[in-house]
Amino acid sequence: MRKVSLLDSIRIIGRGSANWIAERPIVVSFDVTDSCTCYCRHCDHGGPKDESANLQPRDYRRYMEALRPCVVQVSGGEPMMRDDLAEIVRCIKGGERLPYTILVSNWSLMTEDRYLELREAGVQQFSVSLDFPDDRHDDFRVHPGLYKHLSQIVPRLAELGYDDIVLNSCITSANVDEIAAIAGKAREWGVNLCYSAYSPRRTGCRDYFLNTPEQLAVLNRGLDLVGARRDKTNWIVNSSSTRNATRRYFAQGGTPGCKAGLRFLVVRADGMLQPCSMQFEQYPLEKREAMVTEFTAHNGCDQCYVSIRSYLDKSFPQLLGENVAEFFSWRVRDRD
Ligand SMILES: C[S@@+](CC[C@H](N)C(=O)[O-])C[C@H]1O[C@@H](n2cnc3c(N)ncnc32)[C@H](O)[C@@H]1O
Ligand code: SF4
Ligand code: SF4
Repeated sequence: MRKVSLLDSIRIIGRGSANWIAERPIVVSFDVTDSCTCYCRHCDHGGPKDESANLQPRDYRRYMEALRPCVVQVSGGEPMMRDDLAEIVRCIKGGERLPYTILVSNWSLMTEDRYLELREAGVQQFSVSLDFPDDRHDDFRVHPGLYKHLSQIVPRLAELGYDDIVLNSCITSANVDEIAAIAGKAREWGVNLCYSAYSPRRTGCRDYFLNTPEQLAVLNRGLDLVGARRDKTNWIVNSSSTRNATRRYFAQGGTPGCKAGLRFLVVRADGMLQPCSMQFEQYPLEKREAMVTEFTAHNGCDQCYVSIRSYLDKSFPQLLGENVAEFFSWRVRDRD
């Protein structure tokens, strides 16, 4: 996985430290649309939604000037449904190196032209969701032909050599048997891989959580195999500490200590702020501090272990020494 340059690392540390002290978020996720091309079984999005109140590209400058995050995730819904996505990314970047910008997408609409356009606009990492290493992906995402499309476009764009594509695989009871096979697929396609963990909070459905000792044993075997395949190139992004935290999350049924609203937050498509995509308390940009005092200070929710949490629940020294390295695929020392 491509490493962040030393100069960019210094910039990130500088801005991250300033934000930490000023209690501004380190990571902001812009959900640029609520609409989606899929109807995934584990998600509360799906299909077309009313787009009339969406922020316009130039509106994103105001958010960037107020929040000054180190890292931006551009997500949704399916962000690539926005024809003006490259312009949104340009407005987020404002011609600067920071924020480090990640596009989180199902890639149903990805083409070579759009990949190159989005890179040019400033996307530094492409996160591509993959739930199964075969056609079962289509069934889980309710999108016929999606796996075939991915199996063609992902390796073709990986061959361009930019090393900025990361498969994002959310572990559920439906695919826990496939952890090692998904790693094999990432290798075959020549891309990187990051595992995340199913949260029942999005849909209220516990069926996709790992509920039995047998499922937990399968998880542990899968993550052991992944650990054995990890190497110095960090093509499997999750460190041993994050993998172990994922085991604990499933075994204990949750992970306390969430800093949603303070260290990270979501900007909805209509511009309102939320602590995360699964907590619906809304605040205008000008009232961000109220989100910290009213929500974060009293937040007892432990119902997810999404990747943002695995980096931002820690102390700042820990974040610098270990977790920023993982987030940016910027390896300061071997951790396995
Ligand atoms: C909400 S989607 C938005 C971006 C894009 N539509 C996609 O699927 O990549 C972002 C990520 O959230 C994951 N996700 C959806 N529902 C989830 C859940 N209940 N728990 C954990 N992750 C979930 C998806 O698998 C996807 O990788
Ligand atoms: S996970 Fe992504 S692709 Fe699937 S329904 Fe949710 S937003 Fe859409
Ligand atoms: S644990 Fe935190 S990020 Fe996860 S759903 Fe709860 S409040 Fe949101």
